[in-house]
Amino acid sequence: MADRPTSSASPLRSLVLIAVIVVALVAAFAYTGGWLSPNRLTPAKLVNALAPPGGPALGYRRNHAKGICFTGSFESNGAAASLSTAPMLATGSYPVTGRFNLATPVPTAPDGTVRVRGLSLRIVAGNGSEWRTAMIDAPFFAVSTPQAFYGLLKAVGDKSNPDAMKNFIGAHPEFGNFAKWAGSAPWTASYAQEQYNSLNSFVFTNAAGETQAVRWSFVPAAHPEAISPDELKARGADFLDTDITQRVHSAPQRWTLVFTLANPGDPTADPTKAWPDDRRKVEAGTLVVNTIEPEADGPCRDLNFDPTVLPAGMHVSDDPFPAARSAAYAVSFDRRTAEEKNYPRHPAAGDTQ
Ligand code: HEM
Repeated sequence: MADRPTSSASPLRSLVLIAVIVVALVAAFAYTGGWLSPNRLTPAKLVNALAPPGGPALGYRRNHAKGICFTGSFESNGAAASLSTAPMLATGSYPVTGRFNLATPVPTAPDGTVRVRGLSLRIVAGNGSEWRTAMIDAPFFAVSTPQAFYGLLKAVGDKSNPDAMKNFIGAHPEFGNFAKWAGSAPWTASYAQEQYNSLNSFVFTNAAGETQAVRWSFVPAAHPEAISPDELKARGADFLDTDITQRVHSAPQRWTLVFTLANPGDPTADPTKAWPDDRRKVEAGTLVVNTIEPEADGPCRDLNFDPTVLPAGMHVSDDPFPAARSAAYAVSFDRRTAEEKNYPRHPAAGDTQ
């Protein structure tokens, strides 16, 4: 009988190897969980900071929680096809699923109390090509970086320090412009009268491989009518939903898609910096909203309007927001869709909740 080869060192080596693997795994988890770098800004921290004092509304988006779904089409006139190979910019009609919404983490907030209104779109072309965008009606963003957005949320929520907001504004003077806009821009009584802006910059590539930095806006066909905030507060809590439902029931509502083209050197990494008014503009087509549906069981409820979901011919720029937004929206989406008991839906017959 032949002797089996033995080695007194091998059991020890195996144990050491196992220990090394275990330590490496724990370190990887610790890194991913942010335990090794407590100051690192994670998507979960951003989403947690959005929660109102009573905690988040389970089952709902962690921001822009109040909204209403719609469907319609994007009628492209082909004018932007020379800027980008995106299939939905070629002349044609493309289906849209969208959502009008309010920038609040509280889904029951009265409409007249929320300053910022949003429009989210998913435009679909053939071969699974999609363009998702979530825009707001402010002409520029409140802060320059995702880190500053986190700082703003923490300052707003810091009830222990009466100077928290003052300190934040001192360190982020760019916030002053946004505060001025929020305090002085007219309010309207309709989602249909708002212009919605991408604020973030993106890069287009055309068939010749040429690139162009752009921002975009959806400009309403309806004429904006100013209405006082006091008058708005006197209306019902959901007057925006009632208004848009009635309008779309009477006639489709329209917005023109306008691309603004950056000149070389225009700031693309900072959404607080609007580009000068004289920049070239291209009208690319019309968004037509045909049907409105409540969010509960509606076609937009299960969508994540992640601004990095782009078709060929459109790319993110050096603007840090789309990536940070994408990561935060994924956390919000994962949480709300897992909160099955509270997910917005019509009460079903026999539902005991
Ligand atoms: C780092 C900065 C930001 C953070 C952390 C953030 C966070 C969020 C979160 C968590 C949601 C809910 C997503 C979901 O559950 O599907 C959301 C929705 C939304 N955000 Fe942001 N956001 C940021 C910046 C922006 C900017 C710059 C804009 C506008 C240009 C914007 C416009 C919107 C809109 C319109 C929605 C509603 C999307 C929908 O209808 O599902 N956000 N945001």
